[in-house]
Amino acid sequence: MGFHTFDPERAPALEDASRYRWCSREELLFLLDPRGEHAVADLGSGTGFYADDVAPHVDTLYAIDIQDEMHEFYREKGVPETVETVHAGTDDLPLATDSLDAAFSVDTYHEFASDESLAELARVLKPGGRLVTVDWSATGDQDAGPPLTERFSLGDAVSQLQDAGFSIRRAIDRRETFVCVANAPDR
Ligand SMILES: C[S@@+](CC[C@H](N)C(=O)[O-])C[C@H]1O[C@@H](n2cnc3c(N)ncnc32)[C@H](O)[C@@H]1O
Repeated sequence: MGFHTFDPERAPALEDASRYRWCSREELLFLLDPRGEHAVADLGSGTGFYADDVAPHVDTLYAIDIQDEMHEFYREKGVPETVETVHAGTDDLPLATDSLDAAFSVDTYHEFASDESLAELARVLKPGGRLVTVDWSATGDQDAGPPLTERFSLGDAVSQLQDAGFSIRRAIDRRETFVCVANAPDR
């Protein structure tokens, strides 16, 4: 696994709309390009802040989180009709092989990245399925987000994804965050 898991007591902070400074709804939808017939997963969905932005544009959104306290917060807030909460770790997903058209994570890759999780994502995504990663960068300014020592660089993420068989479509380093869009391997 990656670095330490987000403290559920801080869940309300994830609902702060100022987070769109780092990754906006528009940007996420542009990167993911969701379609009405798609099944997608939000990896480490937390309170559903970004899941809510994607949910209206897909058939099914699996909101996956390893901490049930986060799902409880999301359920109290109100889960959209197209969202199914899934209590699981990214290294052992209760989803069928080739069941996802796409998956995304925001501010979470540094918590779940491992060989096991990336192999599991390669399994559940359809061949060529899109994986969008937006996360805090190890070369960031540290104006916000976790300590630099708990982050990956864009280069780390690209190497890890390539080692897991993914093809990199976009790899963009910014001041505080990086964006990586990859396609799942063929089988
Ligand atoms: C920093 S929060 C971000 C939540 C959400 N992506 C957002 O941007 O609002 C990270 C979330 O990932 C979850 N998480 C961490 N490691 C995970 C793993 N291996 N599998 C599934 N969820 C994980 C945590 O429980 C937490 O809810």
